[in-house]
Formats: sequence, structure tokens, C-alpha cells
Amino acid sequence: MIRYLTAGESHGSSLTAILEGIPAGLSVKEDDINFDLARRQIGYGRGLRMGIEKDIVNITSGVRWGKTMGSPISMVIQNKDWEKWQAEMSISTQHEGKGIRLNRPRPGHADLAGAIKYNQRDIRNILERASARETACRVAVGAVAKCLLKEFGIKIISHVTEIGGIGISTQNLTPEDVYGRAEVSELRCIDDNAEREMKAKIDEAKVGGDSLGGVFEIVVTGVPVGLGTYAQWDKKLDGRIAYALMSIQAIKGVEIGLGFESARRWGSQVHDEIYYKSPSRDDKGLSEVPFDTEAQGSKPKEGFYRKTNNAGGIEGGISNGEHIIARAAMKPIPTLPKPLKSVDIDTKESFNASVERSDTCAVAAAGVIGEAVVAIEIANTFLEKFGGDSVEEIRRNYEGYLNYIKNY
Ligand SMILES: Cc1cc2nc3c(=O)[nH]c(=O)nc-3n(C[C@H](O)[C@H](O)[C@H](O)COP(=O)(O)O)c2cc1C
Repeated sequence: MIRYLTAGESHGSSLTAILEGIPAGLSVKEDDINFDLARRQIGYGRGLRMGIEKDIVNITSGVRWGKTMGSPISMVIQNKDWEKWQAEMSISTQHEGKGIRLNRPRPGHADLAGAIKYNQRDIRNILERASARETACRVAVGAVAKCLLKEFGIKIISHVTEIGGIGISTQNLTPEDVYGRAEVSELRCIDDNAEREMKAKIDEAKVGGDSLGGVFEIVVTGVPVGLGTYAQWDKKLDGRIAYALMSIQAIKGVEIGLGFESARRWGSQVHDEIYYKSPSRDDKGLSEVPFDTEAQGSKPKEGFYRKTNNAGGIEGGISNGEHIIARAAMKPIPTLPKPLKSVDIDTKESFNASVERSDTCAVAAAGVIGEAVVAIEIANTFLEKFGGDSVEEIRRNYEGYLNYIKNY
């Protein structure tokens, strides 16, 4: 089982993640992690800070000569902004009182509820940790989980399907196509026309002092049947994915497969009928087949398969061998140049919430964070099923299982 904790404040000296449960013998390079950290920072509509920070991970334990040792992996990401904040964020009493005390909570943030809950009169003590800066750690942990999944042919893709009500219309693309297009798009959007409109809408939001949210989709390919279980509520794969995605800052809705649309249809239009093809027939291969929930299903491979994938690859809390498809809805960024009403916690007077530099839209980045948290859940359920202390041991277990499935 993978366990991890993150620590660190947005303007503190650094962020730290400690990850336990990664088997020995896994190749993990700082470059693998830095690649995803950089992907988290891009996206049309991001604020100034993304230009200041260039996140670089420093692995400080658990890896030797490029391979994991089975011991806890600790990772540190420096906050480049820290230099300017040393006194204000100092851990020493020597600097107490430095900087401006924040007493004006911003709507849509943890500011007011957090200040009341923790009995703090300086809202900085809340926002520093509640900030989405923390997700850099989750992306680092997710990148290690991805290294493990890659060993077993499991790949995770994210792309943006909607921003400010503008949706994509591209359909029937293979996961490889989606990955290729998303990686070269500033909004991780696979539909060029929609992307143009989305960018124009983000520009409009910027000019109007406003912000935008949207929806991203996660597709996981190469998942074997049997991850997760119906046997206990907290072991269900769909529940775990939903929890992981919902825990990302600003995520307000999660769907698996058809999601909310399934509530509007006849049962006969929702459930994915089961077919069987004898193992001897040609296998078209993962990447050649579209993954749309509505279209031909994920991968007509040998054995049991579906022609549709409305379930998004999960039935009864267990992966069913189809691609796993999840979507998450992100609310608009709450810090707005256009003033929102709030109340001073000292004077109780009404005021217009002040503005710090902020993103206008961060859905593309949220998708990369989504990949990370889903990777962690898939890796966890994978290790629960095939777990061992080394990659070789897991491989033996996994291969034995695949052989068993062939004859089922
Ligand atoms: C990648 C990412 C970037 C974000 N950037 C900002 C930002 O620049 N300004 C802001 O006010 N909120 C930003 N947020 C959203 C806030 O962190 C979030 O809305 C806030 O912490 C309150 O949490 P909640 O929306 O989950 O209730 C961002 C969220 C994510 C996932």
C-alpha cells in the first residue's frame, strides 16, 4: 500500500512529500518528476507566479543509483519565491509581526472558515497551506506512481473537455491521439476550434476582471480487470478515484464514465453489454481503438469485452478491463480582480476583497494534478492485488494473474 504525506506552505522555504510503499527496484529519475512538475505549471490563463517558479524536485531518500530501495522516498521542492518571504514566513519569533496581517477573508477560499476553525487572526496562517501550491507535491508523488504503472503498461492521460461552457466536439480519438494533441496544446485541449474559443473566453475574463473554471477528463489505459473491490465501501475503485479528484483544490464535481448523463437515460442505453471473442483472433491493440464512453467502447481485445464503455471501466467498484474514464469539474478561480464583497474580521465592516496576482483559469494544470492523484489510486489498488516488495515479485504475481485470466 502506498501512503504519502505532503507538507509545506505556499511561500515557505520548500514543499516536502514522503512516500512509502513503493517497491524496490523501480527506476525513478528526478527528470521523470520534473517533467510532470513542468506540465503542472503551464496553461493559458495562468498567473505571474508560474513565471517565477520553475519547480525542480530533489529526491532526498529512498532512491539509490536510479532505483528505489523499498524505503520511504522523500522529495523536496524549493519555493523560488521564498527569498522575498523569509521574514514574513520565518519560523523564528525574531521576525514576529513582519509583513501585513491579513484580516480580510476572500470569498471562495478557506480564509474565513479556516481562521475561525483554527482561531487565527492573521489569515495568512490559513491561505499558505490551503493554496493549490501544495499540489506540486501530489504531482511529484503521482509521477513516482506513474513510473510503477508504466512498468506494467498502464498509462494516464488528461485533457480539457470544457472551459467556461465551451466544450470540445472531437470524438473517436484513440488514447494515443488524445495524448499527442493534449501535450502540444496550451490548454491541453484536443479540439483546435474549441481551444480558440476557450482562449478568447479566458481573454474576456481577464479583461473583465473575472475568472473561469471548466472540466478535465482522465483516461487510464492498460488497466487489468480486478483492481478495487465491492467488498468494503472504502475499497471501491470509483469511490477512491472520486475522493482523490475531489480533494484537489477547486474541484466541485466528479463523474465516472457517463456520470450524471446516465441518470437521464433508459437502462438499456447505459449498461455496457458483454461480449466474448476467442483469444485466437487478431488483437487490434490498445492505441488503435477509440475510448469515448459513447462510441465503440475501449478495446476489443481477446476474451471478454464491451462495445461501449459507459461505465468508465469500473463496475461494482472493480476495474472491468476497459479504459478508466473520469471527469472533474473545476470552479472558477476565486481570487478576482473584479471586487467581491467580504467582511473585515476585526471591524466587521463590509469591503471589496483585495486582489493578489492570480490565475484566470487553471483547468489544464488541474488535469495534470488529476493524472497524479488518479495514478496514486490505481497504483495503490494494483499493489493491493499484485503487491510484493520488489518490482520483480510484483511482475511474477501479475504475469501469473494474466495467465489465469486467459484461461478463465
Ligand atoms: C492548479 C490550481 C491553481 C489554482 N490557482 C489559484 C489562483 O491563482 N488563485 C486562486 O484564488 N485560487 C486558485 N486555485 C483555487 C484555490 O486553491 C481553491 O479554490 C481554494 O483553495 C479553495 O478551495 P476549494 O475551492 O476546494 O473550496 C487554484 C487551484 C488549482 C487546482
